Amino acid sequence: MAAFQWKDEYNLNIEEIDKQHRKLMEIGKKAYDIAVIDDGYDRYDEIMTILDELLEYTKYHFEYEENMLKQYNYEHIHNQEEEHAFYVYKIKQVASREDIDENQRKVVLEIIDFLSKWISEHIMGADKEYAVFLKKLKVA
Ligand SMILES: [Fe+2]
Ligand SMILES: [Fe+2]
Repeated sequence: MAAFQWKDEYNLNIEEIDKQHRKLMEIGKKAYDIAVIDDGYDRYDEIMTILDELLEYTKYHFEYEENMLKQYNYEHIHNQEEEHAFYVYKIKQVASREDIDENQRKVVLEIIDFLSKWISEHIMGADKEYAVFLKKLKVA
């Protein structure tokens, strides 16, 4: 799926951050791979494991970014924090849906949709902005 193929334009050219963004995309790819298998098997446990992994890794990545940006007194840190909080809220919301078991495919597709929006909107927007800032400071 095109949405989970890493493109050069996603790179901030900050090695550790690009590595973390790629990892988030890999988790999305895993969710996608589950959504396309249509063999009638129950995928509930696999979906919950991916949601868990997504939540944990997301929190790790956001904390990493926020700490880094605080260190350099980034002026738009609040915008980052707000957008991050929104994504964490969304993942928790999906993970706590009571109908996951009956609507496995639908839930996975929601995760995919949400991750591809995240990449196009947050990484290509707010994250790119801090990358410019760090490059100006010559710390990245
Ligand atoms: Fe990020
Ligand atoms: Fe971010």
